[in-house]
Amino acid sequence: MPSDTLTITDNRTGKQYEVPIRDGAIHATDLRQIKVNEDDGMVSYDPGFMNTASCQSKITYIDGDKGILRYRGYPIEQLAEKSTYLETAYLILHGELPTKAQLDEWTYHITHHSILHENIKKLINGFHHDAHPMGILVSTVGALSTFYPDAKRIFDPASRKAQTYRLISKMPTLAAFAYRHSVGMPYAYPDNDLSYTGNFLNMLFKMTELKYKPDPVLEKALDVLFILHADHEQNCSTNAMRGVGSSHSDPYSAVAAAAAALYGPLHGGANEAVIRMLKQIGSKDKVAEFVKKVKGGEGRLMGFGHRVYKNYDPRAKIIKQIAGMVFQVKGRNPLLDIALELERIALEDDYFIKRKLYPNVDFYSGLIYQSIGFPMDMFPVLFAIPRTSGWMAQWEEMLLDADQKIARPRQIYKGPQLRDYLAMDQRK
Ligand code: CMC
Repeated sequence: MPSDTLTITDNRTGKQYEVPIRDGAIHATDLRQIKVNEDDGMVSYDPGFMNTASCQSKITYIDGDKGILRYRGYPIEQLAEKSTYLETAYLILHGELPTKAQLDEWTYHITHHSILHENIKKLINGFHHDAHPMGILVSTVGALSTFYPDAKRIFDPASRKAQTYRLISKMPTLAAFAYRHSVGMPYAYPDNDLSYTGNFLNMLFKMTELKYKPDPVLEKALDVLFILHADHEQNCSTNAMRGVGSSHSDPYSAVAAAAAALYGPLHGGANEAVIRMLKQIGSKDKVAEFVKKVKGGEGRLMGFGHRVYKNYDPRAKIIKQIAGMVFQVKGRNPLLDIALELERIALEDDYFIKRKLYPNVDFYSGLIYQSIGFPMDMFPVLFAIPRTSGWMAQWEEMLLDADQKIARPRQIYKGPQLRDYLAMDQRK
């Protein structure tokens, strides 16, 4: 007679345990009852959370084997084609697509929270001229918590709403100011007449013209890229957001931690690493030789492989199409031919087929960013801006989830057992 339980026999003691299965999972705390001595109790060992669900979530669904990504049930392909980043951000945060009135109100608030306190400019001015913009972003977004002490009221829905407006609205301003600092340009202030991505392009690239007019193709391409990057369930940076937020720190501090996690080359820094790799390969005819080295253990094929996707990343497919749009306006990126050849060879190669390694979101995004005119240092920053809506949605879901507690994993201690302190003259 089938039942929703798992029977475990502990062969050390011969005892049997029946553990409930809920939503296809057992609760790790149910393993604590399995013990040999009174003071032990079984834990599950899972470095890198390879098979541990840390939460229940209603935000993003991924089927890595089939290459499916949905926000609140809507396929990423439909959102990329029909929605806008701000509408998608609303969906991710509120669970439903907005009505016209809701979208207007949402857009109004996001548009009207983009200005930074002037002291943030002084803070940015203190950075070295060649400071990495992601380092500036991590520091300044964390610093915003000191400007908004009301953000500490994390269980007040009105305060959470205010910080959500501020964060989604100010991230592009922080990012653009970080960029202008790195190239020695005066800061360009937000323009409320422009769209979210149009205004971002304005703050980045405005020169002496009175009114900046964004190229509609680039504005649209960036908007679609922002949709694709808005959320991705429990990835490294979202886990950092939830983990830091679980101690009830304010959302600016938690977003700073999430952005710091995103900075690494295995996560948001991968598209930068892809461009460096393509440049290092140099030409199409050197691709086969490069792939051979990767297979021999010399480095990784950046922009390939994913913890969850064991199929073509659905975002990479859409990005490949956007690349075409951007290259029509800005000219073909010469690194594209190397990328296409790399993809072709890898997808036919047994090493990559066996390990289910396919291009991920970062494989082509860097080429687009480069063609739009972004320096490589800005790539992870361009990931952090749209991901802020996902981080905030995941943070709020965590705060309101009665099952959640401060994140605090267990460990398996392998260090020395009890020993006595040694005086200096007795040490070797
Ligand atoms: N090139 C060559 N071999 C690879 C690659 C790669 N990019 N990725 C994984 N492998 C191999 C790996 O060596 C291992 O082989 P073996 O079984 O012989 O030891 C096997 O595939 C499994 O790899 P893993 O490291 O256990 O897989 P993981 O789930 O821990 O790592 C990953 C996922 C994304 C960190 C990894 O695939 C990687 O380093 N990719 C390159 C960096 C990259 O493109 N990151 C962007 C990820 S998508 C955007 C984001 O989330 O930020």
